[in-house]
This record gives sequence, C-alpha cells and structure tokens, in this order.
Amino acid sequence: MKEHVDRLEAMQARALEGGGAIRVESQHKKGKLTARERLDLLLDEGSFQEIGQLVTHRSTSFGLGEQVFLGDGVITGYGRIEGRPVYVFSQDFTVLGGSLAEAHAEKICRIMDLAMQNGAPVIGLNDSGGARIQEGVVSLGGYADIFYRNVRSSGVIPQISAILGPCAGGAVYSPALTDLVLMTEGTSYMFVTGPNVVRTVTHEEVTAEELGGAATHASKSGVAHFTAPNELEAIRELRRLMSYLPSNCEEEPPVVPCALGDERRPILDAILPENPNQPYDIREVLNAVIDPDSSMEVHADYARNMVIGFARVEGHVVGCVANQPAVLAGVLDIDASLKAARFVRFCDAFNIPLLVFVDVPGFLPGTDQEWRGIIDHGAKLLYAFSEATVPRITVITRKAYGGAYDVMNSKHIGADMNFAWPTAEIAVMGARGAAEIIFKGEIADAGDKAAKWKEKELEYQERFAHPYEAAARGFVDEVIRPGDTRIKLIEALRMLRNKATSLPRKKHGNIPL
Ligand code: HXC
Repeated sequence: MKEHVDRLEAMQARALEGGGAIRVESQHKKGKLTARERLDLLLDEGSFQEIGQLVTHRSTSFGLGEQVFLGDGVITGYGRIEGRPVYVFSQDFTVLGGSLAEAHAEKICRIMDLAMQNGAPVIGLNDSGGARIQEGVVSLGGYADIFYRNVRSSGVIPQISAILGPCAGGAVYSPALTDLVLMTEGTSYMFVTGPNVVRTVTHEEVTAEELGGAATHASKSGVAHFTAPNELEAIRELRRLMSYLPSNCEEEPPVVPCALGDERRPILDAILPENPNQPYDIREVLNAVIDPDSSMEVHADYARNMVIGFARVEGHVVGCVANQPAVLAGVLDIDASLKAARFVRFCDAFNIPLLVFVDVPGFLPGTDQEWRGIIDHGAKLLYAFSEATVPRITVITRKAYGGAYDVMNSKHIGADMNFAWPTAEIAVMGARGAAEIIFKGEIADAGDKAAKWKEKELEYQERFAHPYEAAARGFVDEVIRPGDTRIKLIEALRMLRNKATSLPRKKHGNIPL
C-alpha cells in the first residue's frame, strides 16, 4: 500500500508545483498570486475540493510531449463562500501561460456542467495567454464549448469573472458573456486585438493598459463592473459580491438579520437644494434609505449619470437604479441606458427587487446620441423594466420629464409602487422649455419678453411641476415626506415579498439589441 500512496502523493506534489518555482517567482514579481493562492483566499478555509488535478494535455506537437504539467494549466473544483457552494476555475499562468487547449477547456466545461446541474454560481479566475498556440484548432473548439455553456447558464446561475492577468483574443468573450466582471488595476487587460495588431491595422499607438486595462474597461467601455487595486482586494470584493446573490434563479438572495428602530431619516427632508436646477448626490439619498453600510456599487466609474448597485433594506437584498443629478444633471444617454438595462435584467433574473430613484431631465439631445442609436439603446432600458417581474418600487425625488419619466420604472410599465416626494415635477418637459414652445407667440408679442416668458413659465410650473396631477391620476401611489422614504420602502418591500407574476408564454422576447 505504501508505495501506492507514495506514488499518489508524489503526483499530487507535482501538480501543486504548477509551472515550477522560477515561474511562480516571476508571477509573484508581477504582483500576481498563483492560481492556487487565489483559490485559498477566495474559498472558505479548507472547503476547496479539486477536480481533475491529474488531467494532462494529449498533444505532442511543437515540443508539448516534453512539457507535461498535471492539471493542464487550470485548477478546477468546488468549495464554499460563507458556507454556500460555488464552482470555480483558476487559470495557472505559470503553466504554458495559462493557455487554453483541449483538456484545459474540458476541465472548465465539467465545472460549468456541474454548476448548472446543482444550481450554484461559477466563479472564473482568468489569467491566460489565450488559445494554446501549439495545439491549434482544438483550442478554438474549447473556447466555443465554454461560450456555449456561458449562454446556456445565463440567467440560471450567477457567473462571475475575475480578470487577473491577460485575457485577449476570443478569450474575452467568455467573461463578456458572464454576469459581472472584475479586473485588477495594472496587472490585467482584456482586448480582442492587442496593441501590435492595432498599430498595424489602424496605425494607432496605444499601450496594453490604455487599450484594455482595468481603468479603460471600468470607465470607457463598461466591460468591467468592478476594479480592485490588487488581488487581495479583488478577491475580498468577489466574496462580498456573493453575499448579494442567490445560488440560482429559483432561490432568493441571502437575508441578513436587521433590527429596526426609528427608521425616519430627517436628513432627507433637507437634502434637495432650493434651486431645482442645482445638483445633489443621489448616493446620499440612497445611503439614507438602505441599511447602513450595505451597498456595493456596480459600474461606479462608467456612465456616472446613472448609479446602480446592490444594497439591503431590512436585511433583504435590493438592486438600486438611480439617475445621478450630480453628473450631467442625471440625463439619460446611451451608456446610462445600457448600464441600467443590463443591471435590471440581472436583478430580475436572480430575484432581486428593484428600487428606482428618479430625477431625470430627459434623454440627452444631439447628433452624437441620435446617430449612435439612442432610440434603440433607450428602448433597452424600457424593455428591461417592462419585462421585469421582481418587486419594483420607484421614488421620484424631483424631475421626471418626458419619455424618461415613462422609462424610469413608471407605473405604466409595471412598477408595483410609485412614491413621489412633494418636490417631484412630473411633466412632459421643464417649465421653461414648455413655456417657450406653447406660448411662443405671446412671448414674441410682449414688450418685456423676458418677463412674459417668466410669467408663462410660472403658469406652466403651477399646472404641472408638482406630483399632484400625476397623483390624481394614480400614476403616483403616494406623495411622501422625504424623511419617511425608508419606512415606506420597508413596508412596500414587505408587502411585495410574495409577489408572483409571470410573462406571457413565449420562446423569448426580442429586446432591441
Ligand atoms: C502557449 C503560451 C501562450 C499561448 C503564453 N505562453 N501564451 N504558450 N500558448 N497562447 C507561454 C510562453 O511561451 C511562456 O512559456 C509563458 O507562457 C509565459 O509567457 P511570457 O510571454 O514569458 O509572459 P509575459 O511576458 O508575461 O507575456 C504574456 C503574454 C504573451 C502577453 C500573454 O505570452 C503573449 O503574447 N502570448 C501569446 C498571446 C496570444 O497571441 N494568444 C493567442 C491569442 S488568439 P515559458 O515556457 O517560457 O514559461 C486566441 C484565440 C482565441 O486566444 C479564440 C477563441 C474563439
């Protein structure tokens, strides 16, 4: 028996070495952890169970016959985060650059299949030179096998990607198909074609960091939902993120205990500036109504005129979507619509109720937006809200103008409860612009045009720039004191906890992609 066990232990020890001490040292020098170190941090202590530790590649091309590494450059298995099961893969850059080929892909697919069968999330830690060049076309097949599973799993189990090193070429499409992407600053990048190809084709000079680093994808492209300054922080964020998510689409997100006391928030009674055109930070409003320190902002640096993120109210997870008057007056543009639409669909898929805060002057005008298709992109947000069956609550704090009023989770598109603060202005457009259009003749004929304009502006304001016309029609369920908002949300969420509604039978809808 002893020699059998010795043989096993020797093989296990070889597998744990990865690509060897020199390559591990080089990995550390780059400020990166090894694939196993990452898993140790990610999963509850002692919970990791490895699958396929002894798998090897089968190719002998281009010297691969002499370079056989146990595990084939990816560590796969399952474990727990805060006691809840997750499936994981962690690419090992020290083994053939973490490159993906037949066996490596099969290991990932096996994990994905198990996760689907058992209804638990998949977390992928990506650090790979891409398709294994020596193995050729089987690598392409391997990627496609993963993409296919990403799509099949979408909306069934949460899929999370951490990008902790290179992720280039077609390899980027697996993370892109997952729900949430986190990147580390300075040590990770993602692009379809790298700087060299870019230089050859478009003659642009750009570094890998500028082209596809964490800051680029967090602020410009929106591909990354989260960034972290280093891997320790990144993995901490991944663990925190999991606390907001259910294991699968049939479950509710975890609930944490929350004792209630005086839930009035008088700070909100004075939060709006006197001048309705002055900005304020909607995150201050959100922070006052959610449980203390319960938020996790998503896409914090992308389309900052819209704020989205996870939070808790009375210990229950909610997804917050809010116009941000402090950035571009909270206007809806293409990026803000896309950002919110994808988040709304994620929350809806995973039973996370939506809290929507509205202060929006309308859609952003201009040729840039029109020519890039604000019509279709804005429609995505409209579609996402209209389709969502989770509890949906809206609070209109100030402006709710024009089409943006309809889009931002109005009663008409299926919101369950709509509250308005007394400061809400629900109208086709702002009073000043409205007066200019409908009283154009009167203003032109007046001796003092400015005074006439002001007079007509006030007339329009008196008629529409308040919530009572909308309340009279039932478009708003209740006009509430701002300080009571948290209480109203707690009660409404309790009231909606058993909400059960479904969409008409269909194969799938046709969101304007
Ligand atoms: C095989 C690879 C590899 C790959 C890296 N290695 N990428 N082996 N296939 N794709 C190996 C290296 O030979 C080296 O082996 C080790 O990994 C570390 O690589 P280095 O180059 O020394 O590391 P570094 O300087 O950090 O550079 C990392 C890198 C570079 C930028 C990722 O390795 C690189 O450019 N690799 C090729 C990337 C690429 O073109 N991939 C194919 C993309 S196309 P040793 O033995 O020296 O340690 C693609 C298509 C997918 O992925 C399509 C899906 C639909």
